[in-house]
Amino acid sequence: MQILDGKALSNKIKENLKIENEKLKEKGLIPGLAVILVGEDPASQTYVNSKEKSCQAAGIYSKKITMDENISEKELLDTIKELNIDDKIHGILVQLPLPKHINSAKVLETIVPEKDVDGFHEYNVGKLVTGNETFVPCTPLGVMKMLEEYGINPTGMDACVIGRSNIVGKPMMNLLLNAGATITVCHSKTKNLKEKTLQADLLVVGIGKANMVTADMVKKGAIVIDVGINRLENGKLTGDVDFDSVASKCSYITPVPGGVGPMTIAMLLQNTVTSAKRFFETK
Ligand code: GUN
Repeated sequence: MQILDGKALSNKIKENLKIENEKLKEKGLIPGLAVILVGEDPASQTYVNSKEKSCQAAGIYSKKITMDENISEKELLDTIKELNIDDKIHGILVQLPLPKHINSAKVLETIVPEKDVDGFHEYNVGKLVTGNETFVPCTPLGVMKMLEEYGINPTGMDACVIGRSNIVGKPMMNLLLNAGATITVCHSKTKNLKEKTLQADLLVVGIGKANMVTADMVKKGAIVIDVGINRLENGKLTGDVDFDSVASKCSYITPVPGGVGPMTIAMLLQNTVTSAKRFFETK
């Protein structure tokens, strides 16, 4: 069994981006990312702070906008519209989930697709489905990058994705399909889950339930990717996969923490730099 070390790979990617940004800076060009956080959800606060710190370390200008939980939808949309036309900003990210009184779909559609570094705008989702180049959601993109780094080609594999969220499951399904895998998508309503997971050469789990996937659900020699981040009562972080039992049965596995999580941030920075370069080229 080999560990897929997302932390090491993300450090390598961030280091390369830093070098690239230093060269861009010599030409007077600085990529910029705006991150909007509405409310005070502690997990979201942690993610947003981590994104901001990573931007600064990589030489990306970062603008963090925090808004009150009770802000109106219009105020949020107006803020996005200002960022859409702000020359210093090349990526806009609205941290999800948003408070219930705000229509998330409307918010995501207000970000111009050219600055949608999360890949959540319907235009970019459509491009992913049709297999055209676009901004791809950062977590599934990070998974693909890790597979590539370790020489794992999903073509022809039976892949099983557990979870059907817009952030992970659905884009993961499309990326693996585009890469030539045969996909089964499972979720909370799936019957006989184990029957499906046992067929998988590649199992991607993003369902948000601590240690849900156990060794008896995994085919011997499978590749197991754990997208879950769950905080246990003792404060420890754990994934959706029962790492200790599954690790001895599979060929590759991602740890939590240190697997997919750091890759998500690295891909956000990469998407931001890609976006900035497109803006600089069309100037
Ligand atoms: N909430 C959880 N993951 C993400 C993400 O990748 N992007 C945004 N915007 N919100 C999230």
